[in-house]
Amino acid sequence: MLDLDTTLSRASLSDEALAGSVPRALEELRCLVRREGTGAGMLGWLDLPRTPRSETGKIADEAKRIQDENDCLVVIGIGGSYIGARAAIEALAENTSFPVLFAGINLSPEYHERLLGRLEKSRFALCVISKSGTTLEPAIAFRLLREKLLDRFGASGARKRIVAITDRDAGALRKMASKESWMTFSIPPDVGGRFSVLSPVGLFPCAVAGLSVGELLDGAADALARFTRDDSSNDAVRYATVRHLLHRKGIAIEVLSTFHPELSALCEWWKQLAGESEGKRGTGLFPASAVMSTDLHSLGQYLQEGSRNILETFLAAAGPRAGLTVPADEADLDGLNYLAFKRLSEVNRTAFEGTREAHAAGGIPVLTIETDAVTPGSVGELFVFFEIAVAISARLLGVNPFDQPGVEEYKKRMFRLLGRPEEK
Ligand code: PA5
Repeated sequence: MLDLDTTLSRASLSDEALAGSVPRALEELRCLVRREGTGAGMLGWLDLPRTPRSETGKIADEAKRIQDENDCLVVIGIGGSYIGARAAIEALAENTSFPVLFAGINLSPEYHERLLGRLEKSRFALCVISKSGTTLEPAIAFRLLREKLLDRFGASGARKRIVAITDRDAGALRKMASKESWMTFSIPPDVGGRFSVLSPVGLFPCAVAGLSVGELLDGAADALARFTRDDSSNDAVRYATVRHLLHRKGIAIEVLSTFHPELSALCEWWKQLAGESEGKRGTGLFPASAVMSTDLHSLGQYLQEGSRNILETFLAAAGPRAGLTVPADEADLDGLNYLAFKRLSEVNRTAFEGTREAHAAGGIPVLTIETDAVTPGSVGELFVFFEIAVAISARLLGVNPFDQPGVEEYKKRMFRLLGRPEEK
């Protein structure tokens, strides 16, 4: 079960200050649970963990069909329309059985040329995901890959290899899917992209990859019950409160650090969730991430001795999944025999513990979020924990967690420069 440890942030924030502010965050939680407050029309994500099994059954059936008839699936989408699925699939790679690739996340010709080359000989299917149905990056990737699909398999072969996940009624993708009779799943109207991982947006790619959607949702449902509890010990509420208070005291950046490289995409998912939900109207912590030990040898120096306006939150998982040990070596020329037969997971854990102690001693507040082990259930739990905490902390800042007006700015200028015709 997920646990939040605030011990190493006490030098910046006393237990009394934290306890004194939790009631205000609990008010925001109650408001969320009553489906009230800023952005109240976009709270459908609170229902997703309890998605009826009849709906997940359809997802599982279609996923099985795609697996049976293809060698791989290419998921086309950007932002909230892809990163949640990637986070779960990478975190749980040992549990997967079918290759899932990603496209639509950039406009790079090199990336797309390599991808098209890689698909040359494989039987591939496409899952195009866009709520608006008009986002440029996935739309271009879809055109390129659709052309390839038509070329390879003809119109009827291509038709059964496309699954579209989009708005129930509106948008260009919905229109195309209806016209071409593609298989579709709908994104609920009251669920925004970055809160959609437990909808078909995240569940379908996960199911195709071979993950247990049921276990993911069970973990999410348990987390929903736990992190909506009206209780000052609620860790989602405490995490939101610590972040808010530290931000008010001048902390500008939160770095989510992990010693589990398989959680790197989950950190990316969190960055989008926090950044797009909170970074508006001149406020919000800037979300960054660090994957250790790699980043200890790039960002470690800064975290230890750079500007002291950083909160570092470690994302840790108990229980190793791999049992590798350090080999013994008779000659011991590298002097490592003192670690012989030690599990690599123990060495990694010790590196984590030493690092968080060092960074706290260097003068930055340090939090630890620890899950039992990386399983479908604990990944579902993490999704819900962060969603609730971010929704609360954005509302504490007085901003709408569920819009992203700033993202439109680059699109407007890009479309003007590209000469896109005015919409009628
Ligand atoms: O959180 C969000 O709403 C965004 O990140 C979107 O998911 C992203 O911009 C993709 O949008 P769409 O699904 O409409 O293509």
